[in-house]
Amino acid sequence: MSVAVKLAPRKNERPEAGALLAWYDRHRRALPWRARRGETPDPYRVWLSEIMLQQTTVKTVAPYYARFLAKWPTVQALAKAKLDDILRAWAGLGYYARARNLHACAQEVAKRGGFPRDEEALRKLPGIGAYTAAAIAAIAFDAPSVPVDGNVERVVTRLFAIEDELPTAKARIKALAQSLLSMDRSGDFAQALMDLGATICSPKRPACALCPWNESCLAFAGGDQESFPRKAVKREGKLRRGAAFVVLRSDEKILLRTRPEKGLLGAMTEVPGSKWMHDFDPTKALDAAPKFRAAKWQKLTGVVTHTFTHFPLELIVYKTEVPKNTRAPKGARWVPIQNLSGEALPTVMRKVLAHALD
Ligand code: ADE
Repeated sequence: MSVAVKLAPRKNERPEAGALLAWYDRHRRALPWRARRGETPDPYRVWLSEIMLQQTTVKTVAPYYARFLAKWPTVQALAKAKLDDILRAWAGLGYYARARNLHACAQEVAKRGGFPRDEEALRKLPGIGAYTAAAIAAIAFDAPSVPVDGNVERVVTRLFAIEDELPTAKARIKALAQSLLSMDRSGDFAQALMDLGATICSPKRPACALCPWNESCLAFAGGDQESFPRKAVKREGKLRRGAAFVVLRSDEKILLRTRPEKGLLGAMTEVPGSKWMHDFDPTKALDAAPKFRAAKWQKLTGVVTHTFTHFPLELIVYKTEVPKNTRAPKGARWVPIQNLSGEALPTVMRKVLAHALD
């Protein structure tokens, strides 16, 4: 005789905003930019945090956010700041176009007397894309917007077991996410979705037993929650390679230059280097080195690797020492090594310097 094992009946109802909000009321993360219960959110803080959180983790952002707020407590103060000071304070956060847009946006907002309150108007400001506009509208102004990032996509594709692949499925996911919103507490709903995606509905081993929506989750019902979202096979950017040149002067100075204003890492500081190319020829690397009479270049062992949004990069590093009073080549300058922390050095250059100065 076989005994049918009866599982607890699943309700399998539509996910209710109320269940998520009740969970959020108990388990919300205390984040530095988050208004406490009953507090009115400050749109400047919301905007600043959302820009910093683009492609960057909560943990990395926290100290930068605190430093920016201490230095520039209002949007007016940030609008008046020098771009160079902002870039310096931003160094290490990556995606530096964000820092330039931050400045431009602060100036526009200060001029118009405050942030616009709806998604569409927010989107017109520098550096504010669809996700950030929805996040600011919801969190700062309680507008009925639902920001959808990778975390929220994961939650929604699991809830509805969406078989369509990303990125094609994006529009459908966005519509479904919007359909989950109830009439009130839009800001809390947005943040609750973020928290659920970050803490419970994780990419690997999601904690479904603790999820306020587990009874309505089709992927959980099917037992294949980890397999969502479905993704089209990703094409990685092609590897680029190049050389970086670390020149030390005997009075403890290092040769640096500023990158062009426009383009990748615009206006940031770097050591001189070759172009970064797919077909870089390392045997000709020294052709791109700054010219000094009788310089002896030492090729350091190993390479420095870094991954940008669109391509991975591999740099070989050469090092040389030149006497005190050596003049800097055109477009470059000598900077005391002890002042390096005051330079707007992107992460890739910090890696190069760590490699060469260790
Ligand atoms: N990721 C993007 N925006 C966020 C926010 N406001 N809180 C936590 N994580 C986020």
